[in-house]
Amino acid sequence: MTNLRENGVLMGVAVGVRQESLLGKYEVRPYKPEDAITIYNELEVPNWAPWLRASAETLAKRAEVFPDGQLAVWEGKRPIVNISLSRFNYDGNPDNLSTWDELMGVPATGKDTFDLNGNALGMMSINVHPDYQGKGLTKVVIDAVKDRAVKLGVTHIMGSFRPSQFGEYSTQNPNASIKEYIDKKRKEDNMPHDAWLRALTKNGMRMLRIDDAAMVIPDVTRSEFEDYKKSYKPEKWKQIAPSVWRCGETGVWLAGERSAVYVESNVWGILDKNGTS
Ligand SMILES: CC(C)(COP(=O)(O)OP(=O)(O)OC[C@H]1O[C@@H](n2cnc3c(N)ncnc32)[C@H](O)[C@@H]1OP(=O)(O)O)[C@@H](O)C(=O)NCCC(=O)NCCS
Repeated sequence: MTNLRENGVLMGVAVGVRQESLLGKYEVRPYKPEDAITIYNELEVPNWAPWLRASAETLAKRAEVFPDGQLAVWEGKRPIVNISLSRFNYDGNPDNLSTWDELMGVPATGKDTFDLNGNALGMMSINVHPDYQGKGLTKVVIDAVKDRAVKLGVTHIMGSFRPSQFGEYSTQNPNASIKEYIDKKRKEDNMPHDAWLRALTKNGMRMLRIDDAAMVIPDVTRSEFEDYKKSYKPEKWKQIAPSVWRCGETGVWLAGERSAVYVESNVWGILDKNGTS
């Protein structure tokens, strides 16, 4: 059970067998614009390919646009997890949901779509520091988001979720589709193969539909594209068709003679109230 204090700080947030050791160890509270540079260096850089990183300016702007929606888990002064929330109105029809890019904007600050009276929180981006992954901290964060939803009077908790291990999977299975991957279950417990989708599912997430072109990075020059290929995990890149490259990330690159575009699919989901957490 979580315990929301008046000043917006969550303490002793984690419950459950795997989370017992986390009890009281961390603090969950919003990060401020001035924390953005630390969040960028500690969490964004180690977790994201250079073409996908939110800059420190973007992270700071998110905290100005929606201060209640930019949460971090802190170990002392060190942020070890952060999550970016958006606020929008959901009309109950999954077909009407925007893409990730439409909802967050370019740069991805959420400033043009933020709706103070929106009935939905969107979990748009989460980063667990690599040293802290696999310890169950996603539950701590999802519980904090659930508390925020209550505090803000929001009905739905949703997200355009990134199946973050699809890149790894598609390196082994270059022709795999995102649909096949999302539907892939582990034999032992019939839970999603993907860790983020699995953690979400265990916390009551129901998938709504694929967000096909969730994130698109257009107009990358051919030379920038070549630099990425050489400098960012070069061993992961694989040409699967004359102008199509897998790169170890969730999306693919479509590269022409002069320019390239990166396209990534996510999955829209909603956390049911009667989830399993
Ligand atoms: C994807 C990412 C957030 C996952 O974080 P993580 O620390 O590995 O995940 P966790 O340890 O919290 O959760 C995974 C485990 O906790 C379990 N868990 C989470 N909530 C649970 C609950 N309520 N009950 C039981 N188990 C739960 C998960 O099922 C999983 O256990 P398993 O692997 O034994 O099945 C992290 O790898 C990351 O930050 N990646 C880089 C950035 C990224 O791609 N972000 C995602 C898209 S924005």
